[in-house]
Amino acid sequence: GIDTSKLLSTTGRVALDIGFVNTAACTSAITYIDGDAGILRYRGYPIDQLAGKASFVEVSYLLIYGELPTADQLAEFDSRLRRHTLLHEDLKQFFRGFPRDAHPMPVLSSAVSALSTFYQDSLDPFDERQVEISTLRLLAKLPTIAAYAYKKSVGQPFLYPDNSLGLTENFLRMTFGFPAEPYEVDPDLAAALDMLFVLHADHEQNCSTSTVRLVGSSQANLFASISAGINALFGPLHGGANQSVLEMLESIQREGGDIPSFVKRVKNKEPGVKLMGFGHRVYKNYDPRAAIVKQTADTVLDKLGGDNELLDLARQLEEIALSDDYFVERKLYPNVDFYTGLIYRAMGFPTRMFTVLFALGRLPGWIAQWREMINDPATKIGRPRQVYTGATERSFVPLSER
Ligand code: ACO
Repeated sequence: GIDTSKLLSTTGRVALDIGFVNTAACTSAITYIDGDAGILRYRGYPIDQLAGKASFVEVSYLLIYGELPTADQLAEFDSRLRRHTLLHEDLKQFFRGFPRDAHPMPVLSSAVSALSTFYQDSLDPFDERQVEISTLRLLAKLPTIAAYAYKKSVGQPFLYPDNSLGLTENFLRMTFGFPAEPYEVDPDLAAALDMLFVLHADHEQNCSTSTVRLVGSSQANLFASISAGINALFGPLHGGANQSVLEMLESIQREGGDIPSFVKRVKNKEPGVKLMGFGHRVYKNYDPRAAIVKQTADTVLDKLGGDNELLDLARQLEEIALSDDYFVERKLYPNVDFYTGLIYRAMGFPTRMFTVLFALGRLPGWIAQWREMINDPATKIGRPRQVYTGATERSFVPLSER
């Protein structure tokens, strides 16, 4: 109901773009998306050429430093990461303070925020050496923090990292292993999870990444900015969608698997009923990440003994939606989260850990974007304008006269 011809701010005309549908807030050389063609590239490399071929640590290096590492560069980066996996013993106390049934996402963001209290000598955003050490600490410690958030929720003891293992293997061991027992990392499981991390590693100016940039634009430190990004990711319209998709599939299954009646409720826009895992602000074609996840869901679920009934349900749901005018007209396709939950479930993760896995994957993208922002001389503090719709000037009435 706003008359857009009257969009005047105190300093002149402003553009009203709710949700930043058409407004670019920065320039960036990291990730390219063509939403109509279903293209995603990290630093120029198409996602399908990276997924399954480059490791997550390798892709993290690519995103952050701009080029694929040589074998020597990768070995050095990997070994530097392995030296930073431990959490300070005092930070471990934090986990005990949360209720047993705490959702692991706020545990994750709190612990990341708390990292800045342990590393107060490396918070200067303009000191390259300090940014570098904070980058390594974050990349190396987030898997440990995530595993401890899980251990806390199931009441099991924390495991120290085993630095003979790579990042993803170490995370799996700290999550599913026990102190007194040897844990054999299943290489297929580790490879599948590593690939899912690669698929999530960056996605240009999405809600959480824009949050990281906005917080960082005030020159807040890297830990504070990433912690804010984790909180933005938690919402069900963003990273929280992977949890919501599985809950939706289970609820359809519980109600007898009647997909057409569920789709009808979605189309009738019943409050709170959406086809979770469908639709995207930028992709108006099949999400290329979803295509890769869909291909792998089959093999991974067969190998790990996942819930094929839920996978069948997901496939039928997709088929029905993609041939329905409501979804066709609105260009709604499955996004990356439509099939990931089924794989995470087959791997043994509880539903509430799904968004944590997304955060682990997205971390290098957040860091790369924060570093690009802080090093860009054009960066200004993020400060959107508004169109004021409140009362015009009126006179104060003292309390006794109201
Ligand atoms: N189910 C049913 N209808 C939908 C869906 C959906 N999942 N997504 C969009 N629509 C409809 C809207 O109701 C709207 O219809 P209308 O034109 O009749 O009003 C139309 O499609 C356009 O949708 P918008 O909400 O305007 O699109 P927007 O770009 O603002 O939202 C979003 C994108 C948030 C991803 C949305 O599609 C959604 O809520 N999807 C479900 C949640 C989800 O899967 N999120 C994960 C996103 S990807 C990620 O973060 C990894």
